[in-house]
Amino acid sequence: MSRTVITFGTFDVFHVGHLRVLERAAALGDRLVVGVSADALNMRKKGRAPVFSERERLEIVAALRVVDEVFVEESLELKRDYVLGHRADVLVMGDDWAGRFDELSDVCDVVYLPRTPAISTTAIIEHIADL
Ligand code: CTP
Repeated sequence: MSRTVITFGTFDVFHVGHLRVLERAAALGDRLVVGVSADALNMRKKGRAPVFSERERLEIVAALRVVDEVFVEESLELKRDYVLGHRADVLVMGDDWAGRFDELSDVCDVVYLPRTPAISTTAIIEHIADL
């Protein structure tokens, strides 16, 4: 039976930490589906618009060899609906979210992957702003 993996993120100013988490997520199954967070969701969550629009972020993530399908994540509260809607067998999140999605373990495996050290979109933006 084919195993579908689902994961979520903003993937703004795409960097190697993003690539590695998607590669490791893909390796846990046969098919990788990625929810890319909506611009409006980022405004609510982080208080600022992403550098790249949701359409651009979706286009970049969709082009990756390890990614089979992308969609816009409209709300953080809809994880269960997205998991069920995409028939996902595994939910992958970065370990900055460790424990936060254990409630979904009745419908899928929940796996938290360690983040790549010392890189983040926020750090890149701050670094460029300081130049
Ligand atoms: N991620 C990772 N390693 C990093 C940065 C991100 O594994 N160094 C993972 C996150 O855990 C998540 C996915 O990449 O599963 C998308 O994360 P996102 O929040 O879009 O990226 P960040 O770089 O963490 O962005 P920000 O600094 O804006 O929080």
